[in-house]
Amino acid sequence: MNRIGSLRRIGAIAAAVMAAGALVAASPALSQQQGKLKVGLMLPYTGTYAALGTAITNGFKLAIEENGGKVAGREIEYFVVDDESDPAKAPENANKLIKRDNVDVMVGTVHSGVALAMSKLARDNNTLLIIPNAGADDITGPLCAANVFRTSFSNSQMGIAMGKVMADQKKKTAVTITWKYSAGEESIGGFKETFEAGGGKVVKELFLPFPQVEFQPLLTEIAALKPDVVYAFFAGSGAVKFVKDYAAAGLNKTIPLVGPGFLTDGTLEAQGEAAQGMLTTLHYADGLNNPKNNAFRATYMKAYKVEPDVYAMQGYDAAQLLIVGMNAVKGDTAKRAELVAAMGAAKLDSPRGSLALNKGHNPIHDIYLRKVEGKENKYVSVAIKNLTDPPRGCKL
Ligand code: PHB
Repeated sequence: MNRIGSLRRIGAIAAAVMAAGALVAASPALSQQQGKLKVGLMLPYTGTYAALGTAITNGFKLAIEENGGKVAGREIEYFVVDDESDPAKAPENANKLIKRDNVDVMVGTVHSGVALAMSKLARDNNTLLIIPNAGADDITGPLCAANVFRTSFSNSQMGIAMGKVMADQKKKTAVTITWKYSAGEESIGGFKETFEAGGGKVVKELFLPFPQVEFQPLLTEIAALKPDVVYAFFAGSGAVKFVKDYAAAGLNKTIPLVGPGFLTDGTLEAQGEAAQGMLTTLHYADGLNNPKNNAFRATYMKAYKVEPDVYAMQGYDAAQLLIVGMNAVKGDTAKRAELVAAMGAAKLDSPRGSLALNKGHNPIHDIYLRKVEGKENKYVSVAIKNLTDPPRGCKL
């Protein structure tokens, strides 16, 4: 029997069980009939973003373990693809999960360019997709879809928050620097929007191709421009090198370096002195004192022997969201409309604080201002409360 046939059969069994009025007692039996839930993890496990992919995987699996190793009574079978953060390989990689492995849900990825390709395939094949990092604004804007969800952020959100903070600090001029692809462009776009609305001026936008890390010529240009502040989007090992190079050039003594929290999250061990005192904006901070975060940090540390970061948290929330949807349909993925409706309406108790989704399935959450102290991104204040994206043409 093909998959649709078997899903129909399961639907028939479920209907028969319900008709028998034995719903509660029968749900384990129903789950067995449905077999394992196939989860495809498409994430970077090599390259610049390798550590991010690993943290997301760890966070996702932790939430599943806390749920008894199952989702709505169904065991999980994982299918894993290393996407290498390479957009050119993305269609082939996503198709391995969709067509070859026939997964029930795809979870991925980190890189916006790869995620744009994944979300297109998810739409075309009606595959459920949960994005645990990549922030490409369009995915939850004009390209939004009923079956595509994001538990992380959209790229412009962190820039919007930092532009406001810097304008409030009365900074007048800024230089932005980033990799030239949607994540960097949208991050600096958000910064420019609120910084200039608050009276500042972005005097120069500097770019280099992803994932290059030859920062020296651009640092020389920053030194010559002497702006009041530099806003940078880099992440993973690129963020480590940029922050260290910036300090090695002596620029951190005269021009504050700020950015989205990706610049200093999961990287402080490697950045050491170079990152001290840096201000960043993010939907997470190390010292957030809420019961969920305290429990999350303790269990993550126990399981993996490292401190969790924002990526681990986003992976954890991806699994939490899946669990909400699957519980609503008692593990029956054939009830797609009910499943995605429950996911869209979910109110998650996230380590970041409360997490709800907007119409395009993008997070509505608080964005925090944080300051690097030692090996922590310490909470300073709420930069923007309940930040939500405009619909941007999403027609759901
Ligand atoms: C992205 O490509 O969307 C991206 C990558 C790494 C981050 C944040 C966003 O830390």
